[in-house]
Amino acid sequence: MPTTDSPVQHSASPRFSQRARQFGDQPISYLMQKALDDAGLISLAAGFVDPATLPTDATRTAVDAVLADPRTARAALQYGSNQGLGELREAVLARLLADDGQTVAEAGLTADAVVMTSGSNELLHLVSDVLLDDGDLVLCAAPSYFVFQGTLAYAGAQSYGVAIDAEGMIPAALEETFQRLETAGQLPRIKLLYVTSYFDNPSSVTLAESRRHELVEIVRRWSKHHHIYILEDIAYRPLRYEGPDIPSIRSFDEAGDRVIVAQTFSKAYSPGLRVGCGFLPRPLLAPLLRQKAATDFGSPSFSQHVLLKVLELGLLEPHVARLCQSYRAKRDVMLRALDEHLRPIEGVSWLDPHGGIYVWADLPPQVDTGFEGELFDLALDERMMYVPGQYCYPGQGAPAAKNQVRLSFGDQPAERVAEGIAALGRALRRALGA
Ligand SMILES: Cc1ncc(COP(=O)(O)O)c(C=O)c1O
Repeated sequence: MPTTDSPVQHSASPRFSQRARQFGDQPISYLMQKALDDAGLISLAAGFVDPATLPTDATRTAVDAVLADPRTARAALQYGSNQGLGELREAVLARLLADDGQTVAEAGLTADAVVMTSGSNELLHLVSDVLLDDGDLVLCAAPSYFVFQGTLAYAGAQSYGVAIDAEGMIPAALEETFQRLETAGQLPRIKLLYVTSYFDNPSSVTLAESRRHELVEIVRRWSKHHHIYILEDIAYRPLRYEGPDIPSIRSFDEAGDRVIVAQTFSKAYSPGLRVGCGFLPRPLLAPLLRQKAATDFGSPSFSQHVLLKVLELGLLEPHVARLCQSYRAKRDVMLRALDEHLRPIEGVSWLDPHGGIYVWADLPPQVDTGFEGELFDLALDERMMYVPGQYCYPGQGAPAAKNQVRLSFGDQPAERVAEGIAALGRALRRALGA
């Protein structure tokens, strides 16, 4: 008990914000913790990039070059601008336009509409902050990138799933979704369509070129109450192992006012640098920069200078070529192991990914792959872990399937990829009593 001359002891608990209180733990945090706690477990769950291929030599060369010139070294070690390093914004824009086969004039896009961010997750977060109010709806592929589902939940918005097939989001399903939501009086709540247009996480599908223009047109037509944006996430675009690249959805946005592009160097170079960027339609620029100023007043200057040097010295292309070679080989190992251990089990199927780092598989319909189902624990018992597909589905719209898994060949070495799939085969047979 406090005495008159001792300080009063306060024992009241902290009062967190409404936002913090309504936002629960995300399933992926549980999976990551489990993998960290148990090094012997073969985690095919993490979307980490391959540690063996991280560009240590190229980065040392770039860092040395940045620090060798006192002027650049000081700039790199100083605060940078809120919007990001100008030369880097020019360089990333030039790359995007080259990939899309467009000139600056055709694209109507200049470097002052580019914002450098701390990974593309920051861009996704800033876009949500700027556009979304409590109760707003964001249409997403079902399934979709689950971290962004969490970002939306944090913003108080809701994600609404649109069906996909092997060619990505189905335009007729998108049309039907708009129609259904309009009939229910919900159209004014829709602010955004989110599409990962190359080798989606988790489904690995790429939106067909023939669908890209259609998606832009559908969204334009349904923008009756306000301008609905498309947030195009191109995180996995450089990781292509089959066929030619195709132009972004943005390149089909003739008015240049519809599509926000989120890009990152995490997958193609190094997630540790945390360099991403956004290409923005003009009206979004000022509000997004205000929001960014209130968040961090600029992403790390050092990382941006290092990445600029990597680009200037021509170190990125050879790295991406090596990366693709290594991921292609590991993808093939995973597909061969799936053929050997899971193909013989009735009801199992998957799409062969042409890029990215994931295989998305359907297991027999009676199998529940979630934390509550039997398979997850049996897989842990067999010393492997996957991402249960059901946690990748938006909360509303196209219903979640319970019998799917996301398997990543990104992080683990080839022999552990093969072992992990063999272990999954054993766990699945046990779950089926076979
Ligand atoms: C589809 C997608 N978008 C964005 C990101 C974010 O990456 P970063 O914040 O490292 O740029 C990821 C990371 O896994 C992803 O899978």
